[in-house]
Amino acid sequence: MEYTPNSIASKALRNIKSLENYVITFPTPKDVAKWSIRNDLIVEIGFGNGELITRMAKARPNDFFLGIESSEISCKKAAMLSSKLGLKNIKFLKGDARFLIREIFPDKSVDLVLAFYPIPWPKVSHSKRRLMGKEFLKSVVTVLKRQGKFVMVTDDDNYLEWTKENLKHLGISFNVHQLRPIKATKYGRKWESFGKKSWSIVAHPRHFEMKRILEGCNVPHAHLKKLELDELEKLSKSKFVDENSNSIVQFKGMYEGKEGYLLKVLSVDGDFPQMFYLLVKRQKDGWLIKLDDTAKVFKTPAVKKSVELAAKRGERISPQQQ
Ligand SMILES: C[S@@+](CC[C@H](N)C(=O)[O-])C[C@H]1O[C@@H](n2cnc3c(N)ncnc32)[C@H](O)[C@@H]1O
Repeated sequence: MEYTPNSIASKALRNIKSLENYVITFPTPKDVAKWSIRNDLIVEIGFGNGELITRMAKARPNDFFLGIESSEISCKKAAMLSSKLGLKNIKFLKGDARFLIREIFPDKSVDLVLAFYPIPWPKVSHSKRRLMGKEFLKSVVTVLKRQGKFVMVTDDDNYLEWTKENLKHLGISFNVHQLRPIKATKYGRKWESFGKKSWSIVAHPRHFEMKRILEGCNVPHAHLKKLELDELEKLSKSKFVDENSNSIVQFKGMYEGKEGYLLKVLSVDGDFPQMFYLLVKRQKDGWLIKLDDTAKVFKTPAVKKSVELAAKRGERISPQQQ
C-alpha cells in the first residue's frame, strides 16, 4: 500500500473514531444498568490482544462484553479489531481490574468473569501485583449474579495453589479442572506450543460486604480570594499520609502557565495509585482550584483530599460540586 499524507490522516481518524466508540474512561451506574439489560453481562480481565473477547462478542450479539486491561496498547488494538468487526455489544476499559471490578459493578450484577493466563508474578517481592489476591477474589464473587461464575485459567501450578488457598481461606466454593491450553488466546497457544498443561478454577458467587471508595465521593472546586504563592510552592513538594483512610497525597511539582499554575499530584487509595494535575486558575475575582481537564482520574477520597489540601490556604470550599 502506498502511504500519502491523506491516507495516513484518514487512518489516524479511523483509529480515533474506533477508540471513541469502544474505549470508555468512566462507566457510570447508568452504563452498567444498560449493559445488564442484555442477556448476559460478560467481563474479560487481562484480554491481551483482544481476540477471544471480540470473537465471543461477534458470536453472541445478544450478550454484552466488557474488557478490562491495564495495558493501553491492548485496549487500542481491541478497539480497532472491534471496529473492523462492526461490534455493537462490547466496550473496553483501561485500568487495574482489582480496583475496577469492585468500584464499577454493584453486587450481583455480572453473569460471567473470565481471566485467562493472568501474570503469576512468582517473586515474593512482586506478590502484591498478583490479580488473585483475597481482596480481588472477594470483589469478583460478590459482583456475580446468583448463577454467575468466575473462571480463571492458568498454566502455573504455584499460582494455581496460591489462588486455591485464598479461595479456601475466604470460604468461596470452587472447582478445579486440568485442561489443554485454551487455543483461542495468544498465551494459550504459547503454552500449548511448549507442551504445558493448564488448569481452570471455576468459582461461585458469595456475598462479602464491600466498601466501595468511589461511592458518594464528590470532588469539590475551591475558590480562593488570594493566592499565597510561597505556600503553594511549599505544598508542591509535600506528602500527606492518612493512616485512618489508608491514603496518600503527594504533590510532585508546580508549573506556571498562561492560565495560572498546575500542581502535579500522586494520590494513593489503599494500593490504587493515580497521577493527575490540579489547575490553580486565575479568575477575575481570585483563583479557582479544580482537577485539570486532562485528569482522567477516578474521584477517590485521596483525589478529593488533594483539592482540599490545595485550598486550605483559601477562604472557603465552594458548595459547587465537580
Ligand atoms: C499473560 S497476559 C494474558 C493475555 C490473554 N488473556 C491471553 O491469554 O493471551 C496477562 C494480561 O493481563 C493484563 N493485566 C495484568 N494485570 C492486570 C490487572 N491488574 N488488571 C487488568 N489487566 C491486567 C496484562 O496487561 C496482560 O495483557
